[in-house]
Amino acid sequence: ERLSLWGGRFADGPDDALAQLSKSTDFDWRLAAYDLAGSRAHARVLHRAGLLDDAELSGMIAALDTLEEKVRAGEFLPLLSDEDVHSALERGLLEIAGPDLGGKLRAGRSRNDQIATMGRMYLRDHARVISGLVLDVVEALVSQAEAHREVPMPGRTHLQHAQPVLLAHHLLAHAWPLMRDVARFVDFDRRADVSAYGSGALAGSSLGLDPQAVARELGFSDSVENSIDGTASRDVFAEYAFVTAMIGVDLSRLSEEIILWATKEFSFVTLDDRFSTGSSIMPQKKNPDVAELTRGKAGRLVGDLTGLLTTLKGMPLAYNRDLQEDKEPVFDATDTLTLLLPAFTGMVATLVFNTEKMAHLAPRGFALATDLAEWLVREGVPFRVAHELSGAAVKLAESRDVELWDLSDEDYAGISEHFTPAVREVLTTEGSIDSRNAKGGTARAAVAQQLENARAELTRL
Ligand code: ARG
Repeated sequence: ERLSLWGGRFADGPDDALAQLSKSTDFDWRLAAYDLAGSRAHARVLHRAGLLDDAELSGMIAALDTLEEKVRAGEFLPLLSDEDVHSALERGLLEIAGPDLGGKLRAGRSRNDQIATMGRMYLRDHARVISGLVLDVVEALVSQAEAHREVPMPGRTHLQHAQPVLLAHHLLAHAWPLMRDVARFVDFDRRADVSAYGSGALAGSSLGLDPQAVARELGFSDSVENSIDGTASRDVFAEYAFVTAMIGVDLSRLSEEIILWATKEFSFVTLDDRFSTGSSIMPQKKNPDVAELTRGKAGRLVGDLTGLLTTLKGMPLAYNRDLQEDKEPVFDATDTLTLLLPAFTGMVATLVFNTEKMAHLAPRGFALATDLAEWLVREGVPFRVAHELSGAAVKLAESRDVELWDLSDEDYAGISEHFTPAVREVLTTEGSIDSRNAKGGTARAAVAQQLENARAELTRL
């Protein structure tokens, strides 16, 4: 005989096929500790409303504590016949406290306000865990940047050589978006910091319970303004899924670069043996699997977000069972990042950069052509003309298969009288890099300041 949360108006229990479909304990059991915390808080407001006497309250709390110990020890587990974490725990409470006392706890609450609250508790906790792991990646990036303060590399647009930049500048360009993701989680928490307890099934509770007292006991600043919104909205879940997807996408962009940098053609980095894999057939292979798995799992994180948003789209108020689908995407996103981030941090922290090759290639492919044009501008030549003249120098150098600095003073004078021998001062990597010295630029002094600011932001987060 199935133990059910309903039955009064039913002549028969659910068919096995429905029970299988309906069951969510395979994934929502991880919310058990949150549900028990909610139950304790709920018992206290029932007591304060006069619906449990002193003895009943202490009996109820003791039973919930015992149940929690059994859950933690793995002695109490959901049965196939338990529909969800709430039903399983109610069965456990009835077993320990007896049906008379245990049966009082369900007054004034619904699984709808329970799950909406438990979900928020889970998300708030795990946003903090993931933020910590993301900051480890940032720490690795900032440390690598500090260790390579003066190393130039080719800066690219369209994957073509564009202008020389410092490796530290490039690495920090990956650190800032990740710090913004952590800031997004901080901001997310302001909206997740609201308990839905007391909303009941959708309309609120008639039993004189105090939703704000429950909220405070569960670590929330307040309870929801609207019971329908409290039970039916999942935008906070979607926001969490967005931040996790964004983290995945941000990591995937660095991953793609590391994969390229590790090729024979680039040879910009060597991966540490502990963070690369070999081939079962090709003895020479050393593969960037951490970066590839990251790139792959970014797709999965985007899928989690997309699935959740699609579930929510067009759903009428208030609670609908579709909402049970809110959990697996955010759990999967959490598990994915919890697994991924430590390996990613290890890979970044142990990257060895081929700084000579990077520096050698930094000014090549005519990456100093903009410096040439801007030098002319400082000589009073309009930029339109300067762009043309610098382009002519590139054309001449390209036709001879040489670089801009290989052209002679006569070559330059032949292109334009504005090109005096003094132009050579900008035809070096260091000159080019250090000239971009305004805030946000790649000059050594600007990057030193940026590193300081990144460190400060890292401490603040
Ligand atoms: N297990 C459900 C969920 O995850 C909560 C229970 C609400 N069920 C219901 N029939 N009202 O959303």
